[in-house]
Amino acid sequence: MCGIVGGVTDQNITPLLLEGLNRLEYRGYDSSGLIVLSKQNSFERARSVGKVSNLEMNLKSRSKEINGKIGIAHTRWATHGEPSSLNAHPHISKNTVSVVHNGIIENYLELKNIQIKQGYEFKSETDTEVIAHSIDSEMQLGSSLVESVQKAVKSFEGSYGIGVISSKYPDQIIAARKGSPLLIGISENGNYIASDQMALLSKTNKFIFLEEGDIAEVKLDKVTIYDLDGKLVNRPVQKSKLKAGQVDKGNFNHFMQKEIFEQPQAIRDTLESRITNDSVISSSFGHKADEIFRSIDQIQIAACGTSYNAGLVAKYWIEDIAKIPCHVEIASEYRYRRPILLDNTLFVTLSQSGETADTLEALKAAKKINNTLKSLCISNSAESSLTRLSDLTFLTHAGPEIGVASTKAFTTQLVSLALLMCSIGKLKGYISRRQESEIVNGLKKLPGLINEALLQETQIKQLAKSFTNKNSALFLGRGTMYAIAMEGALKLKEISYIHAEAYPAGELKHGPIALIDKNMPVIAIAPNDELLEKLKSNLQEVKSRGSKMLVFEDENSKVQSMDSMKVIPITSNLGRISAPIIFTIPLQLLSYHVALSREADVDKPRNLAKSVTVE
Ligand code: G6P
Repeated sequence: MCGIVGGVTDQNITPLLLEGLNRLEYRGYDSSGLIVLSKQNSFERARSVGKVSNLEMNLKSRSKEINGKIGIAHTRWATHGEPSSLNAHPHISKNTVSVVHNGIIENYLELKNIQIKQGYEFKSETDTEVIAHSIDSEMQLGSSLVESVQKAVKSFEGSYGIGVISSKYPDQIIAARKGSPLLIGISENGNYIASDQMALLSKTNKFIFLEEGDIAEVKLDKVTIYDLDGKLVNRPVQKSKLKAGQVDKGNFNHFMQKEIFEQPQAIRDTLESRITNDSVISSSFGHKADEIFRSIDQIQIAACGTSYNAGLVAKYWIEDIAKIPCHVEIASEYRYRRPILLDNTLFVTLSQSGETADTLEALKAAKKINNTLKSLCISNSAESSLTRLSDLTFLTHAGPEIGVASTKAFTTQLVSLALLMCSIGKLKGYISRRQESEIVNGLKKLPGLINEALLQETQIKQLAKSFTNKNSALFLGRGTMYAIAMEGALKLKEISYIHAEAYPAGELKHGPIALIDKNMPVIAIAPNDELLEKLKSNLQEVKSRGSKMLVFEDENSKVQSMDSMKVIPITSNLGRISAPIIFTIPLQLLSYHVALSREADVDKPRNLAKSVTVE
């Protein structure tokens, strides 16, 4: 989603703001902007539509440099108001207050009508402008900047992470959060704010993570934090293990490609200290995990996008192997239903970022429905809103994922879910020591198997060319491979803009077969499992309708290659747990190369954001 960076330093802040924006661009990027307070305490602002590079060009084209020691900046992913320079942040009220904002002020129309009557002139269509005017109007009544923010936020419904500067208070930034993440970076040369630590890694690795409702006054040498009730609070300074270099492309052309190839290591890192030679260390889910896992009778998973697809795979594993009823639901639907949540439910949220608003709200809604439930968050972000709200946390250790289309976060989520399934099944007595040992040994082989699958890249790159001019594609699978087909279809549509759908192969005859002709390529996944023969029959049905097919198979599946059907063996003897993880790899490579062949912006697909922190 949108990104915020800002700082008070003893040097010119503009280069830091630009660097931060570049590092945040993956979150959302239809426009960007920055504002600094000049030596004369006047606002100097630049805003541009499109990528941060456009803002850089805008700055270069100016006769006068934008220069100051305090400033705030923003990359925007449009929600209220189209992407345009006027709607880009920062917004200004009466040349006194300037604001950058992540989130949505849901009652902005109501506030706007009041402010128009008060004489405020609106320059944009955004909800953010009401924040600037609200703060300004409190200042006009005599409150200080921090007091004005404290008073103003009381009138906001919705979510916000904001950075505020004022020409009347040239030594400070006010940061406030509710529902949108915000942190403070601490360094000797100044203090900073950002929505994501990545923006600040080149300056510091010391961070304070603001909590819900916190408001902070950030000065060059001092940070003061107030909680929701205005009480002074101390929040711990935490050292981040992330390094600036981890968020570079290295020798790869794109972050997505780098992240696909990082999967063997990411999985090793996720397994490290979580397994012994032949067993899963269930306490790696938290010190209360054993007690909680023993007590649960069902699992409810809620997630969005790629994380939801990981949940679908886990449902098969959890019910088949650990014998616990498991439901999976899209979080944005779950939060508005009145679902039945029995006692002894483990509510699992899956989220790469740990900040997805719908997933967070689904968890909050579930807690309201049944306050006895226990919650577990599987996330790639140690300090996130979801992890803070959950009883148990399991980190995927995939490392920073920058490509908007999720790759290594997905496969490490699957590994984490396999460990969860195994821990629960073992503690409930449904998984024997021998089975556990087999599962663990299977997981240990994954990095090697992924490396083998990655060797298919050249061949897949070649095949991707036949998709360049297609408008649609159909992905087929059965069992866990249906969920992997969904993930394959999601990847293709996200980055190549080809319409793609996934179907359980057995459902083909109930509708989608009507779509099949020579212009609709079909991609199928054929593991060597108990459904293989049924899948082969489904493939015959497709073949006789003239479609071009691409089949990724287990070497032992022996699907017959022919003119209309290209079969690519990926590897052999994959088990129930390793198969969905390994078959994900060729689908990631396929969508990556199809997107490249269509000259699409792989890492920053249009209209998408890495982390969706608004509804
Ligand atoms: C966005 C991203 C998707 C991601 C989804 C859930 O829509 O574009 O790639 O899968 O959010 O994100 P999360 O961080 O909760 O896993």
